[in-house]
Amino acid sequence: MAIRWKGLNRQETACLTEAMVKSGEVLTWPESWKGKMVDKHSSGGVGDKISLVLVPILACCGVKIPMVSGRGLGYTGGTLDKLESIPGVKVSFDTKDLKETVGKVGCCVVGPTDSFVPADKLLYGIRDVTDTVKSNGLIASSIVSKKAAEGVDFLILDVKCGKAALYKDQGEAEELARLMVDISNGFNIDTTALITRMDHPIGLAIGNSLEIVEALRCLRWNCPVCGDLNTCIQCRGCKDIKELMYELGGRLLCKAGVTKTMKESRGMMEGTIRSGEAMERFRKLIVAQGATEDTAKRLCDPSTDFWMGLPKAKQITDLQLQQEGYVHDIDAQKCGKASWKLGAGRTKTDDILQFGVGLELQVCLGDKIRKGDVWVKVHHDSDTIPAEVLSLLEKAIVVKDQELTTLHRSRVIKVIPPDSSNTCATRSSL
Ligand code: URA
Repeated sequence: MAIRWKGLNRQETACLTEAMVKSGEVLTWPESWKGKMVDKHSSGGVGDKISLVLVPILACCGVKIPMVSGRGLGYTGGTLDKLESIPGVKVSFDTKDLKETVGKVGCCVVGPTDSFVPADKLLYGIRDVTDTVKSNGLIASSIVSKKAAEGVDFLILDVKCGKAALYKDQGEAEELARLMVDISNGFNIDTTALITRMDHPIGLAIGNSLEIVEALRCLRWNCPVCGDLNTCIQCRGCKDIKELMYELGGRLLCKAGVTKTMKESRGMMEGTIRSGEAMERFRKLIVAQGATEDTAKRLCDPSTDFWMGLPKAKQITDLQLQQEGYVHDIDAQKCGKASWKLGAGRTKTDDILQFGVGLELQVCLGDKIRKGDVWVKVHHDSDTIPAEVLSLLEKAIVVKDQELTTLHRSRVIKVIPPDSSNTCATRSSL
């Protein structure tokens, strides 16, 4: 609480981070993997399922990802909660099993334990209920301690900025990004941060198992609705996710010397989706983390309905639009809060999550819509949608008569430290 109120300077943050790393074991890896150990971490978003898609893809490209991720904080979702919505999947591994999984599958997605960054496990678990989330010292030490204990060579950070991010102001987001880059460089992790827009949800799904389904759609090359023409609503949702994924993953592949340009990275990553390798790697990952072969097959077989084998909410209610026009805004914070209030996130540390609840958007920014069109499907376990959720959702969408002209803004606002857009500095040229 003192840190939240008074703040920490750079040196204090570095010291806290070091103490957190040393609170548990530090991983070491075979000498032959030197320069190939990578990871990505986000400061917390709404609809952010990037890690679920990115990790298996990167593993197929030849790098190793011992990802130690986080749970949801407040209305922002957590990768670990999403993964745990898959029946049987565990995210608490001792370091021996963690290393074995990375050895077998090339990746893992787990959480801190009592022997691995236990200080972060303890602090992270109480931060949202003690209102100590918004603190640069605590965020930087939480994120960087996990990465330093993982023993990675390269790190990419996705620092969110906008309505649903901790920082609405770009200057403040940049300050956090610079702090994390500096601190992790101090641990010999070559780190890049992207400042990315977090005004609108990423993709269409918000909520744990709903986001698993969307991640699986991104890993499947041919969309059953529109082939691979990318014209249907689901593909448009996936495009948004893939833009961020290629930006983040592309840089890691360049840094690790796997590729020379972002274009080459993108081609390689896309190739793993097209060939089905990425989906197969996701299947192996969830089996290694506890899912049965049967559950994994049902989820990852492109010819099946992804929903088989995942928790579903008791009810789905369509919300319609009361006016016609163009979609100008879908407020990520209001959507995140609505999903949180439905039970997708915690209000107390020991809350049990309702894995199937959440939102499925039916429109994208800029879409022309008619009165009566359904804009969101609300997945809920309660008999009716709670009034506060309805009120949040009514205010979350903004429809105007005129077309939206600023539609194709990239999610990436800034890269720290800057690189050129087509090529990345490789390890050897740094
Ligand atoms: N992710 C973390 O691991 N820690 C934070 O404090 C915020 C996001």
